[in-house]
Amino acid sequence: MNIPMNPNKALWERGDFTRIAATMRESGEALVQRLGIRQGMKVLDLGCGDGTTALPAAKLCADVLGVDIASNLVAAGNRRAKEMGLTNCRFQEGDATNLHELADQSFDLVVSIFGAMFAPRPHDVAKEKVRVTRRGGRIVMGNWIPNDPTLVAQILRISSAYTPAPPEGFISPMTWGLESHVLERFIRAGIPKEKVSFIRDTFTFNSPKAPAAFVDDFRRYYGPTMNAFDGAEKSGRANDLQNELEALFEQQNKSPNNHATSIPATFLRVTVEI
Ligand SMILES: C[S@@+](CC[C@H](N)C(=O)[O-])C[C@H]1O[C@@H](n2cnc3c(N)ncnc32)[C@H](O)[C@@H]1O
Repeated sequence: MNIPMNPNKALWERGDFTRIAATMRESGEALVQRLGIRQGMKVLDLGCGDGTTALPAAKLCADVLGVDIASNLVAAGNRRAKEMGLTNCRFQEGDATNLHELADQSFDLVVSIFGAMFAPRPHDVAKEKVRVTRRGGRIVMGNWIPNDPTLVAQILRISSAYTPAPPEGFISPMTWGLESHVLERFIRAGIPKEKVSFIRDTFTFNSPKAPAAFVDDFRRYYGPTMNAFDGAEKSGRANDLQNELEALFEQQNKSPNNHATSIPATFLRVTVEI
């Protein structure tokens, strides 16, 4: 029997996101330090990738489950947990739009840093997050912000000009970076408006490579950029896309060392008190 491909899963299993995640570790660790995680807390990291936030949470002695739609990233997370000797962190495959395998109110903290924002059907995502969080618990989301001048929003903006138009009814993941949309989704999931708060925060990408070589990593390993290059190649514009991205990375690079890249990117940090 042919099982139809899930394009959301295929996008993130493409390439190797661990190559990009490797440049996000310091900010992941620093963010987790600010979340008030205590020993024995039950933490769900949704759209966890290979554990940029799940593993630091486990280092703080929380009991951590990472859930991600991409099987290669789940395997990478379990490998990293084993290498670090962390027996209190495990990773499994799952879809943020339907967490049927997880019981109601089973987590003290549900974290999703640039993870569940990429799932389709955002109302289902909000509803599922609320369902699995215990009363008195918290949800924390990190979401890129549309039209923000910093790195990721700009990569996605540039890439969209080279990617085929999305199917009708597609809701952009970037709408999770708009406070009004986030509020509407959590209110619909049963959360009063005053329980949802927002701050702007920063994640820094640190690569030992020069900006142009770091762009190549996105081109070779980051699903959304790989798709954009596929589109650009079809229309003979791959060099234009490469040049636009190189100019962006060069312009945003804050590293004092020409042979390395350090780029801060602004995101919307959402906290929901359940
Ligand atoms: C930009 S990566 C971020 C990964 C990780 N949170 C980090 O900060 O390194 C987005 C992640 O969301 C996952 N993802 C996308 N759609 C998903 C869905 N429907 N359910 C669960 N995970 C999903 C992807 O597989 C990918 O690992």
